[in-house]
Amino acid sequence: MYSIAPSILSANFVRLEEEIAAVESGGATILHVDVMDGRFVPNITIGLPVVKSIRKATSMTIDTHLMIVEPGDYAVQFVDAGADMVSVHIEADQHIHRTLQSIRDAGAKAGVVINPGTPLNSVSEAIYHADYVLIMSVNPGFGGQKFIPRSLDRLRELRQMITDRGLDVRIEIDGGIDMSNINVVADAGADIMVAGSAVFGMGDPAEAVRALSNKGAVWV
Ligand code: DX5
Ligand code: ZN
Repeated sequence: MYSIAPSILSANFVRLEEEIAAVESGGATILHVDVMDGRFVPNITIGLPVVKSIRKATSMTIDTHLMIVEPGDYAVQFVDAGADMVSVHIEADQHIHRTLQSIRDAGAKAGVVINPGTPLNSVSEAIYHADYVLIMSVNPGFGGQKFIPRSLDRLRELRQMITDRGLDVRIEIDGGIDMSNINVVADAGADIMVAGSAVFGMGDPAEAVRALSNKGAVWV
């Protein structure tokens, strides 16, 4: 079993409330919000005021993915803005333990994110202090990129690491997830599948969530 977390990065921002309502009606329970600062990644998206507004518009779990430098300065502000899950990149934070702890202390789930080029053992210690690990299966910054196949081995390896240590840590995967690979990604051990263009790039976001939720229902 896995959850679909539609990423609003690929939504129509002018009609954001309708887009959110659509994925909720399709059965999504988690909404993925990509926060980019133009420094950690070469793109700028949205920040705290938008998260505050989304909080008023939905009861879905709000999952904020912080692609920003020095995320420890902002993580708790995102919890205060209404985020239920806040993830920070291992590559961006010199004090990951402190940041993860501060997110938990503020009452949200704390996640650590790892880029495709970063060795998996970089999160070896952080997973003791995290509620979930987000494996990037594309380089962060943009929607609509192609899934990096090596991510499957990384998923399996991380799943094994978590099992071997008896930890209660979820695995989220982000980037290039669509109908063609969701089955194999689920088998490799992902619990939460982020999907941007595969949800909002289609004509009917609600139907796209339904299709992606039914493992193996449709193959293209
Ligand atoms: C990329 C973002 C993703 C993005 C995924 O940096 O973190 O969440 O929205 O988009 P797709 O599903 O189109 O790869
Ligand atoms: Zn993301």
